[in-house]
Amino acid sequence: MTRKIIIDTDPGQDDAVAILLALASPELQVLGITAVAGNVPLPLTQVNARKICELAGRPDIPVFAGCDAPLMRPLVTAEHVHGKTGLDGPTLPEPTMPLQATHAVDFIIDTLRREPAGSVTLVPIGPLTNIAAALQRAPDIAGRVAEIVLMGGAYFEVGNITPAAEFNIFVDPEAAEIVFRAGIRLTVMPLDVTHKALTTEAHVRAFRDMGTPVGDAVAALVDFFERYDEAKYGHEGAPLHDPCTIAWLLAPDLFSGRFINVEIEVRSDLTRGMSVADWWGVTDRAPNALFIGDVDAAGFYALLADRIGRL
Ligand code: BDR
Ligand code: CA
Repeated sequence: MTRKIIIDTDPGQDDAVAILLALASPELQVLGITAVAGNVPLPLTQVNARKICELAGRPDIPVFAGCDAPLMRPLVTAEHVHGKTGLDGPTLPEPTMPLQATHAVDFIIDTLRREPAGSVTLVPIGPLTNIAAALQRAPDIAGRVAEIVLMGGAYFEVGNITPAAEFNIFVDPEAAEIVFRAGIRLTVMPLDVTHKALTTEAHVRAFRDMGTPVGDAVAALVDFFERYDEAKYGHEGAPLHDPCTIAWLLAPDLFSGRFINVEIEVRSDLTRGMSVADWWGVTDRAPNALFIGDVDAAGFYALLADRIGRL
């Protein structure tokens, strides 16, 4: 049985690989891709999402533009990581497939109301603005979401955009708080797990050796993306954060984690956007998220290479 998903994204090189992994996987039916402001502003993320669909030979996937700023704060972007376009690395043509006229938040609400309850999984891999806006506007959809599988947060790795916070949560902490408190089944891929799945030269070579336009593009995306983390952390390779969400849907046995309480800090200037994860069970706060902590990195990259090779 195929699983219906909506990918909410701010591409982003690692977002792009996540989208490609999903489009290459017959187990998943991508109902739509909703763009949000994050790594770069919305006018770029919605174009980037369409570029990736066309790269995958899937101009039929509907792409929607959503919120252009966080719920309550000015947008923070990450060109220092992703480059000016958000998708620096490969040279991809301007997309010719249309952007859908419907707002992404309306698409999310309409789809969840139309499809059978419990049949649609949301996969947010950027700031959670679109998802929170949909939940705010249409609280009835919370009971209709199958589950949310998101990339965001950190406990042991603490932060990447600030000493205390991971980028996706930091950009829109109020949105994250809404999502983490929505009572929806939640699986979280924090930095703790993505930092255990670093790219290597051999991985990049494997993509390049596919000899396909998609393999070449993924190699160029990863090549570019690695530069920032290699310089910052001093290790070889970079974490491919966002594809961990899709890999989880395809092969959950590659991952392990704990069902724990996770709260989002929204008040403190110093630690705003921190995901306060009760990994050690030292509070009596109710568990609300499966917080992933470990991954079989070799298995993850084998899955990625197998699927990307199909495109
Ligand atoms: C997250 O932030 C973005 O830069 C990446 O695309 C990923 O979603 C990692 O912190
Ligand atoms: Ca992202």
